[in-house]
Amino acid sequence: MSAEPAGKGELRLCARLGLEGAAAESLLAAMRAGNSSRGAVVLTALAPPDYVPPFPCAELTAPWLPPRVYVPAEGARPTSHADYAKGLYYSLDLSSCWESACLAMVPQPASSLDMCAAPGGKTMLMAARFGAENHTANEVHPGRRGILRQNLAQCGMPQVRVTGNRPDQWARSGETFDLLLVDAPCSGQSLLCKGIRNPGCLSSSMVNGNAKRQKGIMLSAVQCVNPGGHIVYTTCTYDPEENEKVMAYILKRVPGWEAVEVPLLAPFRSRLVDFPAYRLLPEHGFGAGGFCCLLRKI
Ligand SMILES: C[S@@+](CC[C@H](N)C(=O)[O-])C[C@H]1O[C@@H](n2cnc3c(N)ncnc32)[C@H](O)[C@@H]1O
Repeated sequence: MSAEPAGKGELRLCARLGLEGAAAESLLAAMRAGNSSRGAVVLTALAPPDYVPPFPCAELTAPWLPPRVYVPAEGARPTSHADYAKGLYYSLDLSSCWESACLAMVPQPASSLDMCAAPGGKTMLMAARFGAENHTANEVHPGRRGILRQNLAQCGMPQVRVTGNRPDQWARSGETFDLLLVDAPCSGQSLLCKGIRNPGCLSSSMVNGNAKRQKGIMLSAVQCVNPGGHIVYTTCTYDPEENEKVMAYILKRVPGWEAVEVPLLAPFRSRLVDFPAYRLLPEHGFGAGGFCCLLRKI
């Protein structure tokens, strides 16, 4: 293990992930070093089809890289260019782009809802793939909803409907969609790998509290999907309680849903469950990491 003795929360996390020896050490070292951040930009509808970002980009040829996403080269500062202020591209984490690779398996939706949308990264990625017509970006937190609105306005997406419903209100509304994205509030353990303080994120109470909330959100989300429609579930945390176990709970408790294979993400398939679910760790080199799983209503 690392030179610094591992804490209880760190040991519990590694045990739950089935990580031992060098693999456990690698995750703990990344959480302590806090330098795994990797940025990306996604072009918006304001960028012409032949637009190329005005900063040097890394030559990343990962098959899962979503359309219209570029990875700034080391030292490039995409947010300092005038084109950023003009809304030609939106800056986000490369791990977020990785999570959105699930969308490659989803047919063009006639309607979509980003249920936990602020500040707007996943909505930008959805729009880059499917366009922004008939898309709803929902955010329960009023302050964060304001930021979401600002980002959508800056990136030329006035057609996106912005709402502030709780998931249970969506479930009761009777409105349904072909595609839902649930980028769930979580304990945010990957923030440690970006050098962002996140006290308590490894504690049982934090993880269990989030898992309970995520199950509640998903129980509402499944009621808002048309037959044949999809839910992409994502988090930026590592603990299986908030990831695989939430998906297993939904698949067991709610009839008529299946987890869908995402071949582009095959190298990242979780070994913790026997259905397709995917996890990214800092050691993969694509940022601080995350989790994603694509569900389909049969
Ligand atoms: C991980 S963030 C979303 C990030 C966003 N998808 C993006 O890519 O920019 C999770 C969001 O869920 C919202 N949230 C918190 N509690 C919630 C709840 N109980 N139901 C739905 N959303 C919630 C938070 O305010 C936060 O904006």
